[in-house]
Amino acid sequence: MELLDGKQLSQTIKEELKAETAALVAQGHRPPHLVAILIGDNPASQTYIRNKVKACNFVGYRSTELLYDTSIKENFLLRKLRSLNADPEVDGILVQLPLPKHISPTKVIETIAPEKDVDGFNPINVGRMAKNLPAPLPATPAGILEMIRRYGLETKGKEIVVVGNSNIVGSPVSILLARDNEPGNGTVTTCHIHTRDLAFHTRRADILVVATGVVHLVTADMVQEGAVVIDVGINRIEDASRKTGYRLVGDVDFAAVAPKCSYITPVPGGVGPMTIAMLLKNNMQLYRAHLGI
Ligand code: GUN
Repeated sequence: MELLDGKQLSQTIKEELKAETAALVAQGHRPPHLVAILIGDNPASQTYIRNKVKACNFVGYRSTELLYDTSIKENFLLRKLRSLNADPEVDGILVQLPLPKHISPTKVIETIAPEKDVDGFNPINVGRMAKNLPAPLPATPAGILEMIRRYGLETKGKEIVVVGNSNIVGSPVSILLARDNEPGNGTVTTCHIHTRDLAFHTRRADILVVATGVVHLVTADMVQEGAVVIDVGINRIEDASRKTGYRLVGDVDFAAVAPKCSYITPVPGGVGPMTIAMLLKNNMQLYRAHLGI
């Protein structure tokens, strides 16, 4: 069993982006600029935004964090997004999800200009992705693809089972791994909460991707010997022995499943750090397209 070390790989990618940014700045260009918007005080979202800003600083990007109270009006946010769309100093925009109930995520996502949509969530970009056209890819799915690519894992012709059909992870991962691309060309099954016999499907998987947010949903009996297991879950469970009072576990029972795998992602240190690295990579691509360099 080999670990898919997202922590190390994401560090490599960030070092590459840092060097690329330094070279651009040395040529007289301004650094790439990401605007990250957080509404409310969801602790997990606060952590994600903080880590995104920290990563921007590391690679030398300019970042702007906009923090708003839960009570802000939807219209206020949409107006702010339109002004960021029009701002020539801004390359990438993201609004951290989930949003408070009175703000429509669909409206927010559709208001971010496709050419500044660093999350790749705008339906124009989702459509381009589905049609195998160049587009910013949602960061977590892009991170999974990048791991597969850099570890040299074959997807062509493989039985790939994705557990989860969310817009952020499960659905785009299924599309990407089935596309006629590299990686891609897998035989993809998407399972979800309504799947009748989950284990029947997961046991057939050469590559199993799990993105449900259910602690230890996948147990050893559900995994084929030699499978590649990619665990997207980041779940907080109580742990009195930790200073924070919690620790992070995935959707896969790592201790029991890992011995059966050819490759598996740890949690934390697997897919999580890759997400941020790919977000930065997307921002670099949007920046280059924006400035035509
Ligand atoms: N919430 C959970 N994952 C994501 C993500 O990748 N982007 C944004 N904007 N919100 C999220």
